[in-house]
Amino acid sequence: MARRRTAVLISGRGSNLRALIEACARPDASAEIALVISNRADAAGLDHASAAGIATEVIPHGAFSTQVGFENAIDRALHEHAVALVCLAGFMRVLSPWFVERWRDRLLNIHPSLLPAFRGLDTHRRVLEAGVRFTGCTVHLVRAEVDAGPILVQAAVPVRQDDTEASLAARVLAAEHRCYPMALELLASGRAQVIDERVVIDGAMAPDATVLNPRSL
Ligand code: GRF
Repeated sequence: MARRRTAVLISGRGSNLRALIEACARPDASAEIALVISNRADAAGLDHASAAGIATEVIPHGAFSTQVGFENAIDRALHEHAVALVCLAGFMRVLSPWFVERWRDRLLNIHPSLLPAFRGLDTHRRVLEAGVRFTGCTVHLVRAEVDAGPILVQAAVPVRQDDTEASLAARVLAAEHRCYPMALELLASGRAQVIDERVVIDGAMAPDATVLNPRSL
């Protein structure tokens, strides 16, 4: 089967983009990263894309007088590059309902919490304040509501008593780099389908262990 042409939208560092590029370099990958779009010219992630020989476009939101103008430019670039799937990876602009609908079930996002808990920004600070014992990350299909939509893959990450925002963010980020390639592969290969607003994965197996935090004494 032809690989699904995938675009990644970024605004910054691009470590998830890098994980996606690495995973799609495997000969058996169902997706290929065909385009990287950034709304910021100084996004470090653009260098990862160029180094991998991937087409890049900078579409600065500030250059447009309306949000719809900005989104139309993104939509045009996606069509010009014959893109089938779109991954948001640290893309710091909220997309409007018309754009989200246009790319319905073909638009993914990663969020650094176990959704639906801790939607929005400053996730790790709020996780530490809440004193929860587990956090994690979620890859989901995008819906108009921010940080909501059918869940493809989640990772549970333990919170340690001595965690800082930075140490927790680093542990969650390592999990993100495993989850995003898995989620893209599931969608691109056709193994994941949306049924009644939930993702059903052909042949998926849940882990068999229940984990306690603190661990059993
Ligand atoms: C990640 O933590 C992701 O979950 C969030 O923004 C961050 C992007 O990091 N949406 P990077 O640019 O992929 O390194």
